Amino acid sequence: MSQFQSRITSLLGIRYPIILAPMGGVSGGELAAAVSEAGGLGLVGASYGDPEWMKRELGHVAGLECPWGVGLVMFTVAKRFDLLDLALSFRPDVVALSFGDPAPFIEPIRNAGARILIQVHNIKQARDAVAAGADALIVQGAEAGGHSWKRATLPLAPAVRDAVGPAMPIIVAGGIADGRGMAAALTLGGDAAMLGTRFFATSEALGSPDIKRRLIEGHAEETVRTRAFDIVRGIDWPPQYSGRALENEFSRMWVAREAELSMASDAVRTAYADAVRNDDLHIRAVWAGEAVDMINSIQPARTVIDDLMREAEASLALALRSFAPEAAIPA
Ligand SMILES: Cc1cc2nc3c(=O)[nH]c(=O)nc-3n(C[C@H](O)[C@H](O)[C@H](O)COP(=O)(O)O)c2cc1C
Repeated sequence: MSQFQSRITSLLGIRYPIILAPMGGVSGGELAAAVSEAGGLGLVGASYGDPEWMKRELGHVAGLECPWGVGLVMFTVAKRFDLLDLALSFRPDVVALSFGDPAPFIEPIRNAGARILIQVHNIKQARDAVAAGADALIVQGAEAGGHSWKRATLPLAPAVRDAVGPAMPIIVAGGIADGRGMAAALTLGGDAAMLGTRFFATSEALGSPDIKRRLIEGHAEETVRTRAFDIVRGIDWPPQYSGRALENEFSRMWVAREAELSMASDAVRTAYADAVRNDDLHIRAVWAGEAVDMINSIQPARTVIDDLMREAEASLALALRSFAPEAAIPA
């Protein structure tokens, strides 16, 4: 495979411009290690921060010889700073911060010697993240699985590139599942691609065979963006964000009745928690993005990465060939 160099591969010391999204409950230590060992950057999805989960999963990656990182959701960790300390005690090379104000996190992460990635969803957030001290931005569009804001990746990534200038490394996220999407990310002003939904459908991802099968069967038009799954879990998400998941009985019942769900009885919450425990996919959220259309099999993470690199190279070469003078269509 060809060598690949970008500001992100140099900054993070990785071989390929491919980053595993820090998916809560999905990107555990095994998946993060597999991605890092295959030449990308694996991020453990510590998400809202369950200390026991973090200790177990970060323990898998702590001894790796290649770079790895951890992702934290800022609006929850801001209330529990000990979770940042816990994450940093495992000495990650990278910390990815999403959803909230990065300011209080910058100094402790820098002092721990880790690189800081900040996820942004619009131009103002991008400028603020640069001013706060991000080493790189993750520009996330609303095609993404899980939580996002309302901008689509295709126009957002180049607009952020224009806004922050040529020097800031940018990782593009949202809707990328194969080498064509990755090639697009690189031509939109990105230096790397971050993939979530595609890596959910890998053998190393946390999650039952049933939930991964649902990703193969699922279609983009079946996904819904909703706050219902957050409301029932009692997670106080900032109101501008909603999460994209595959439609199921629960979403069909509550998507148009989110205010009512906020008032719902404890019985509804308990039933939801039971459904998560029992992996009842009719009720529990199956977070997935529009890229779910391109998922046809469960693969080892290394195969996903090798395919991404090969296909991206082929896609870029094909696009260039179309511009060659001999390819011009005679008048
Ligand atoms: C199952 C799942 C869980 C996710 N959990 C988180 C999370 O805990 N924190 C976070 O910052 N982003 C989370 N995301 C969003 C990802 O970080 C990323 O932005 C998204 O997956 C990129 O879009 P894609 O799914 O089209 O690849 C999640 C996404 C998925 C699919």
